[in-house]
Amino acid sequence: MRIDVVSLFPDFVRQCAEVGVVGRAQQRKLLQVETWNPRDHAIDRHRSVDSSSYGGGPGMVMMIEPLRTTLQAMREAAPEPVHLVYLSPQGARLTQGRVEALAKLPRIGLLCGRYEGVDERLLAHEVDEELSIGDYVLSGGELAAAVIIDAVGRLQDGALNDAASAEQDSFSNGLLDCPHYAKPVQDALGSVPEVLLSGDHAAIARWRLKQSLGRTWLRRPDLLSRHGLDAVSRALLDEFRREHSLRGQPRQDDAAE
Ligand code: ADE
Repeated sequence: MRIDVVSLFPDFVRQCAEVGVVGRAQQRKLLQVETWNPRDHAIDRHRSVDSSSYGGGPGMVMMIEPLRTTLQAMREAAPEPVHLVYLSPQGARLTQGRVEALAKLPRIGLLCGRYEGVDERLLAHEVDEELSIGDYVLSGGELAAAVIIDAVGRLQDGALNDAASAEQDSFSNGLLDCPHYAKPVQDALGSVPEVLLSGDHAAIARWRLKQSLGRTWLRRPDLLSRHGLDAVSRALLDEFRREHSLRGQPRQDDAAE
């Protein structure tokens, strides 16, 4: 998959995409991240990319022309059509479902705004989708682009060493992930739940699903109502809730048996 990022801070975006799983995916040629700086396409001697906002008010707006030529150069750099995403707090909220859909496309573009944003006419003509990474305001779209590159990059076939780990992630089945434990078995902070040491794969899967359901119920009940539980999950969640109330409601992280 190819991701083209249009940004006034291309070095920042490139550096984010060079580390960890996503960096490895690039080395393995599973993912190609390219950056485009609108300042390189500015037409005046100051290399201006912004101007004041018509109607007045504080802040500058990114102008049409440098972006139009940047986007044209970007689209022409490879044969695949670009699904262009504009990152802004006004966009639809990014979800794992949206990430999974974007990860299946051969090529996406990420347009990062700065200042007060981008001239609306350019957005109306060029952009396929506007996304936000949450209800807060960043000083530009670069961090949001880095989030999308990471979330989408790790889903490319072969990017994760163990493909099952993507299936186990929070949200991939509509639930939060279960707790995980590393060495040692016994520690002053507590012990690893017995069932995880049993080697009984069915019992472990059942415990993990119960913890996932319980955590989601405690921390993100909004996800549960959307998830629509089957009979087995409902029974497991009832079991979790009974155990939880018997325990006098400790923090869910302490709920390990
Ligand atoms: N740019 C500024 N704030 C943003 C947000 N919350 N999501 C995506 N892009 C942004």
